[in-house]
Amino acid sequence: MTQKSIYILAIESSCDDTSAAVICNGKILSNIIANQKIHAEYGGVVPELASRAHQQNIVPVVQQAIQRANIDKKDLNAIAFTRGPGLMGSLLVGTSFAKSLALSLNIPLIDVNHMQGHVLAHFIEEENTPKPSFPFLCLTISGGHTQIVKISNYFDMQVVGETIDDAVGEAFDKTAKILGLPYPGGPLIDKYAKLGNPKAYSFSKPKVGKTDFSFSGLKTGILYFVQKQEKENSNFIEENLYDICASVQKTIVEILLEKLKNAVKETGIKQVAIAGGVSANSEIRKQLKATETSLDWRTYIPKFEYTTDNAGMIAIAGYLKYLDNNYSGMNVSAQARLKVNENH
Ligand code: KG4
Ligand code: ZN
Repeated sequence: MTQKSIYILAIESSCDDTSAAVICNGKILSNIIANQKIHAEYGGVVPELASRAHQQNIVPVVQQAIQRANIDKKDLNAIAFTRGPGLMGSLLVGTSFAKSLALSLNIPLIDVNHMQGHVLAHFIEEENTPKPSFPFLCLTISGGHTQIVKISNYFDMQVVGETIDDAVGEAFDKTAKILGLPYPGGPLIDKYAKLGNPKAYSFSKPKVGKTDFSFSGLKTGILYFVQKQEKENSNFIEENLYDICASVQKTIVEILLEKLKNAVKETGIKQVAIAGGVSANSEIRKQLKATETSLDWRTYIPKFEYTTDNAGMIAIAGYLKYLDNNYSGMNVSAQARLKVNENH
């Protein structure tokens, strides 16, 4: 018997990217992302501008996702959307659009927790990409979050440790800002770090719980260090940019790996995944892969397009909920704050 094709359209609008994807039985057919360039001028995301840009982008982005998937919207079986966490104004655009579309097509609506979406991106059907089995640990690292989660089943997640202040993406972006690089600076630090000496400078690491994180002190430490150096040499940043980037990145990656090692020790789980925007970082990918031989871990590293915010990850979470007939009521509302273990 041939399997029935289930088509789901997913919408992600939690922060500054408007994204829509179509998934068919776990396989992504399209994943369109409209980045909002406007925020670069302000050195960070401006919530008001993000909501407005979502309103401008959402119709063309959805249309493109359906077109690229080569389907008609009448073929859709459900609409999934990000309910939270995120910026309220941004979430409202996606939530209202998803509701209206589900109503007009008379098909189920499925709300997705953005944090669960990042983790569940590992279950997208991809050739030559093995999926983790339960239980596994996932280090979710993004511009808004830094946490280690134990995943016992698709929607059974428990926080093992998390940041007590800034997210790791903020550490990258704020360091970039100090160095005069545009927002978001994470990818640039990654790029320049490849050309520098990671041992050129050392920064002190935070002292927090074994599986918890703290990045606000590191950011301040980097700021004071750069200010002090600039007093002696006003061209310090320019002359040493690559070395500073490499040293900062090394410190951050060491912190992440150390906490992961502690979490593996604590839980006894040696299957380790990474997710979120910062999991695109080449050094964290390299170091995590190295643990397969050095520590006998099994590691799961997502495809680049599923690391930063994208609707593909919302689509797979929506599909898994669809298989469980786990639909939302029309009274479902956006939630700016939502923990990874909150399903409703
Ligand atoms: O998951 P994401 O797209 O959005 C949130 O949910 O926050 O993550 C965005 C974050 C930004 O802080 C960005 O600088 C960082 O991911 N990022 C990186 C890299 N690519 C994106 N950080 C370090 N290295 C990268 N290659
Ligand atoms: Zn995210």
